[in-house]
Amino acid sequence: MSDSVKVIYQDKSFEFPLVEGTENEVGIDIKTLRAKTGLITFDPGYKNTGSCVSSITYLNGEEGILRYRGYSIEDLCEKVSFIEVAFLLIFGELPTAKELALFNKEIREDSLVDEDLKTILKSFPKSAHPMGVLSSLTSALIAFNPNSVDVESEEDMREAIIMLMAKFPILASWTQRKVKGLPLNYANTALSYVENIAHMMFKLPHQDFKPSPVLVSTLNKLLILHADHEQNCSTSTVRIVGSAHAGLFASVSAGISALWGPLHGGANQAVIEMLEAIKADGGDTKKYMAKAKDKDDPFRLMGFGHRVYKNFDPRARIIKKAADEVLEELGLNDPILQIAKDLEQEALNDPYFIERKLYPNVDFYSGIIYRALGIPTEMFTVMFALGRLPGWIAQWLEMRKNHEPIGRPRQIYTGYNHREV
Ligand code: ACO
Repeated sequence: MSDSVKVIYQDKSFEFPLVEGTENEVGIDIKTLRAKTGLITFDPGYKNTGSCVSSITYLNGEEGILRYRGYSIEDLCEKVSFIEVAFLLIFGELPTAKELALFNKEIREDSLVDEDLKTILKSFPKSAHPMGVLSSLTSALIAFNPNSVDVESEEDMREAIIMLMAKFPILASWTQRKVKGLPLNYANTALSYVENIAHMMFKLPHQDFKPSPVLVSTLNKLLILHADHEQNCSTSTVRIVGSAHAGLFASVSAGISALWGPLHGGANQAVIEMLEAIKADGGDTKKYMAKAKDKDDPFRLMGFGHRVYKNFDPRARIIKKAADEVLEELGLNDPILQIAKDLEQEALNDPYFIERKLYPNVDFYSGIIYRALGIPTEMFTVMFALGRLPGWIAQWLEMRKNHEPIGRPRQIYTGYNHREV
């Protein structure tokens, strides 16, 4: 195979080397393109643009493969917990028993936030969306922990990582407690990381709370499946903000805002809202299938399609199975679940969806599970953020350790030429 690519422009030939990954993915290294030719590339939405080399997550959208640090998500979901996956993503290997015990201990010890953060939370209206509140509170952590992080210092980095892993679930749960008007909970050091998420969200002041095994095992799976997804919109945001040497908390706060969008993580909430709307409109799924296919109608079938999966989303496969198990175990009979099943079947057999390779994505089923587990709709994207946190941290760390330059795309200007005022 040739190890370079020739570009011919104005009768001149220019050669550019290829970069090859460990899974044989090949890219053209165009770092010198503009200097040599005066040209730039034009790729809206970066559909063909590799922004970095990364050894964290391997994703093959055509074959439906997703692996973290070489381990398949199927294997990880079956054999390890979310906190072990977090360690794997951030530090590169699964933890030994001793490393895991230390990681958990450090997180437990740091599971407190400054009480003054409650004043900030209090100032939001109850109607504020939890994702907006979470982004603000994460950003506010900077003010309460202003020490700058030296990325070359293992100690500094570990401290920042532990701090964020420990405090983020507290802030996330508080966004829900605020909406519900409930007292704010802290973690219980006797519980695991995932049990604590459930504890902080659901524990009521006048009742004991023991997270059920089905809740904990399903949450573990969901969080693992959301933990990283290479250079998606929010992760690219985290990396690009961090590339200006903004701190970890500021970069993650920006990632939360990106994740909130309905074309990204916000889709899990949008799926349930769409299903509710179809139910309220008489439950006619065919009508909504027709709307989704009508080019004059902006409606899209939420939870279908994906930028990189042009085959079944492997996460959706695992979640679909988990959803079936959870619904059976909890004995739920929710009418919107039937609407979801009907839509899924119709879309999987419809030529429009088949031709465009539009399959149900992870968000189609995750919303259904969260609903079955009693998690309020407006918290779905916060759950996604809780899962994605280790991925954001790992990607930020890799970007800084690789000394990546500041992210700064170019443009093709199409405005006015010079004119006088
Ligand atoms: N419903 C109906 N038509 C769709 C849908 C959909 N959900 N998704 C894509 N299409 C159609 C487009 O109209 C387009 O049709 P055309 O070729 O006739 O013009 C074609 O399929 C390709 O769509 P694009 O928008 O070009 O695909 P892109 O890769 O840019 O978008 C995206 C991917 C944003 C996920 C899109 O499929 C979508 O909007 N889906 C619904 C929102 C959603 O579920 N998002 C969650 C993504 S998963 C995640 O973030 C974890």
